[in-house]
Amino acid sequence: MALMIWIVGLVMVIVTLAFLLRAVAFPKEMEAIPGSLGWPLIGESFSFISEFSSPAGIFSFMNKRQQRYGKVFKSYVLGRYMVFTTGREASKMLLTGKDGMVSLNLFYTGQKVLGPNSLLQMNGEDHKRLRRLIAEPLSIDGLKKYFHFINDLAMQMFDEWPARKVLVLEEASTFTLKVIGNMIMSLEPTGEEQEKFREYFKIISSSFASLPLKIPGTAFYRGMKARDRMFQMLDRIIARRRNGRDLQQDFLGSLISKEGSEDDEKLTDAQMKDNILTLLIAGHDTTTAALTWLVKFLGENLAALDKLRDEHMEIRSKREFGSSLTWSQVNNMPYTAKVRIIIIIIIIIIIIIIIIIIIIIILIYYIMNRNMQLILFFDVQVVSETLRRATILPWYSRKAAQDFEINGYSIKKGWSVNLDVVSIHHDPQVFADPHKFDPSRFDDPLRSFSFLGFGNGPRMCPGMNLAKLEISIFIHHLVCRYK
Ligand code: HEM
Repeated sequence: MALMIWIVGLVMVIVTLAFLLRAVAFPKEMEAIPGSLGWPLIGESFSFISEFSSPAGIFSFMNKRQQRYGKVFKSYVLGRYMVFTTGREASKMLLTGKDGMVSLNLFYTGQKVLGPNSLLQMNGEDHKRLRRLIAEPLSIDGLKKYFHFINDLAMQMFDEWPARKVLVLEEASTFTLKVIGNMIMSLEPTGEEQEKFREYFKIISSSFASLPLKIPGTAFYRGMKARDRMFQMLDRIIARRRNGRDLQQDFLGSLISKEGSEDDEKLTDAQMKDNILTLLIAGHDTTTAALTWLVKFLGENLAALDKLRDEHMEIRSKREFGSSLTWSQVNNMPYTAKVRIIIIIIIIIIIIIIIIIIIIIILIYYIMNRNMQLILFFDVQVVSETLRRATILPWYSRKAAQDFEINGYSIKKGWSVNLDVVSIHHDPQVFADPHKFDPSRFDDPLRSFSFLGFGNGPRMCPGMNLAKLEISIFIHHLVCRYK
């Protein structure tokens, strides 16, 4: 009995303290914003988490509250007071974030996993500078050199499919991780280094959205340990590059090559490692999810699949014709055999060789461009529609860096403001019959800020060319070879 009284007393004390704590911490200005803050301490975290993992996803959490409170509402989720908003106007404001109005709002676990130098934690000039450094290796031109690696990897994967049970998510995950590992640091697609890399990455990735409890046995603890091991691996790779034993023209190579230049262009090892991990995390899960959704949507929409297949069959015939013709020309140039006795002939031949080399370089450039552009051109609509329907990053979170107003409500410096992108992507005013998968809706240009598959403004996805390239090559081999 006495124990019972103690327990009841303790619960009452905790609840009272929680109410008091929330009353003290609750920003009074938020009273004007409609919405509920849920239970003390817990807020609306449980419904947020449970709806996040439901088939409807976070959309159902936001949609219910939008119907009850309107476009702007407040909530208290995972220890944070938050304002949610949606619509083109709000997205324009939050994503362009003029004059340092907002910064990216990374949650605590994400901050610890990615590290203090991550692009996701940079703002203002530091952010701009880092973006400049990573932009070049991730541009279409910078990615050309990975075309053959990605293409061979896809062909090999699809060759193996008939012999094993295929789980698309797993296949897509392996594919995208091998691509990004190669793009960043020339990791071979098989072997011990690839295995270790994959092992560490998977643990880090699953700790990214875990509770921040650094106690042995928790996902966060395991993730931080795996991060240390991944960084040791990166240290070894960076050391090999620096002492000239392993020179590669990859993402890491491009960062290291800047070391002789101005301070503005240099990154410390810690900055390099945090940002390599950032690209791995940001680039792997998103592209894997996009590929998996794409296969699902195509499987359910035979008309879209047939159209895509027809287009790709045409691309295939053109590509095979184009590349064999060109390469046979390259391999059968007979000029060098004629270099003999007379000097004039030698000079003429040297000139001819120079011309041929120039032609070959132009041809190789043309083939690589042609391969990429043909595929990218035809798939843009399917990729966009997949990203619209699946909305892989369902909401973008920002922290107010100054006071401003959104949809008539005052937002104070320091508040967390979240943009609901799913509602923007399913707005029936912009996308008729929004739940239908219909790539042709991207035939005509859309109004700005109504499609945010890769975001917009200064934080727009820097990896979108790589993602599109991977997805396009994957689709090409998938639809040409499988029903
Ligand atoms: C289909 C695949 C992808 C999708 C749907 C996607 C989507 C996005 C979106 C919507 C944002 C902006 C988020 C915001 O404004 O809060 C973003 C940012 C970012 N993405 Fe991607 N992404 C994809 C692939 C990639 C790849 C392959 C990479 C790396 C190679 C990458 C690296 C990043 C990085 C580093 C940022 C942060 C940029 C910054 O803060 O300046 N993403 N991505």
